[in-house]
Amino acid sequence: MYVYVVFAHPSKQSFTHEVLDAFTRGLQDSGHTFEVGDLYEMGFQTDMDLAQYERETGGDPDAPVPEDVRLEQAKIDRADGLAFVYPVWWSDCPAKLKGWFDRVLTFGYAYDYAYADAYGEDGAHVTKIAVKKALVLCPAGHPVEHLEEIGVAESMRCVMLGDRLLGVGVKEAHMEILGGMVENDPTTRQRNLERAYQLGRAF
Ligand SMILES: Cc1cc2nc3c(=O)[nH]c(=O)nc-3n(C[C@H](O)[C@H](O)[C@H](O)COP(=O)(O)O)c2cc1C
Repeated sequence: MYVYVVFAHPSKQSFTHEVLDAFTRGLQDSGHTFEVGDLYEMGFQTDMDLAQYERETGGDPDAPVPEDVRLEQAKIDRADGLAFVYPVWWSDCPAKLKGWFDRVLTFGYAYDYAYADAYGEDGAHVTKIAVKKALVLCPAGHPVEHLEEIGVAESMRCVMLGDRLLGVGVKEAHMEILGGMVENDPTTRQRNLERAYQLGRAF
């Protein structure tokens, strides 16, 4: 498969970057090809400006989108799979990645309410996204058990997988929270990196 890996962390010295390296090594070792979109390195514009807001709410699915958005959509179009690697910040993704979803999942591309048959039998929106599979990999300070117990893991799955991926046409999506990092325990660290590598291999 050809995988577009979206990376959202400001530091190349971060644990999240080590997860990116382990995951892409796994992809390579099983013969997948990929490109990485490092949103901070690209200086990807996070917030939707007035012009794009007016485009998104203007009711014209064919209205042109900003060039940086078009380039991201082209990367999605040539990918069989998508992967997202980011740290859990305040129970969600960093704003940089939230802005990527806000701006890249445009009206007429990721969804379109305008058609009479906009909702299929399964309730999915009309979409141009034909990605087979997505994987979300996110390191977290809290142990996974704690995030499950307080409902945050479920809320992350619901929003990231249900709404932002499966909800726009991705056929299959899975989230792996690489938790427990706040303990600074080398065993946890190694286990999480091994898991990231294996997920790359098994993609
Ligand atoms: C601004 C900020 C917010 C965070 N929020 C959470 C959180 O809500 N839940 C959690 O489990 N960990 C949280 N963390 C911890 C990170 O997810 C954790 O340290 C992760 O392993 C990323 O490490 P890295 O920055 O070295 O890549 C937060 C860290 C930062 C810097």
